[in-house]
Amino acid sequence: MKKILASAAMLLSSVVSFSALAAGNVDAGKAAAEKYNCAACHGKDFNTPIDPSYPKLAGQHKDYLAHALTAYKRGGDGPNGRGNAIMGAQVKPLSSLDVQNIAAYLHSLPGTLVVRK
Ligand code: HEC
Repeated sequence: MKKILASAAMLLSSVVSFSALAAGNVDAGKAAAEKYNCAACHGKDFNTPIDPSYPKLAGQHKDYLAHALTAYKRGGDGPNGRGNAIMGAQVKPLSSLDVQNIAAYLHSLPGTLVVRK
């Protein structure tokens, strides 16, 4: 019985950590955003970009952000890609885990882009 309980607990914890991975880690995303200096253009609160043509990111939907970053990684030539010289260079060093984590972090910030229920 003890054995069964222990393996059930192990199974549960691996399921939990898997979903945490898929959801992105806010703290790791904050660290990555700082490391790659995303705030230099998007503003230190990610709500006050240095140029009005640069997008606000704070609070934006997580899946949208992850999708956008992945699209810049694909580039403008392929399907579902975004060709942008500035962001294309920014996303180059990001792993897909970085993308998930940064998206989770930016989504966690206060912003006016989305309606929160
Ligand atoms: C040198 C300035 C600069 C830096 C640094 C920069 N960005 Fe950007 N970012 C831009 C510009 C300009 C755009 C708009 C590009 C376009 O028109 O597609 C953009 C667009 C985006 C978008 C798409 C937003 C939307 O609403 O579709 C995301 C997400 C994003 N940046 C995230 C990041 C992240 C994460 C980093 C750090 C790894 C970063 N940016 C660093 C200038 C920058």
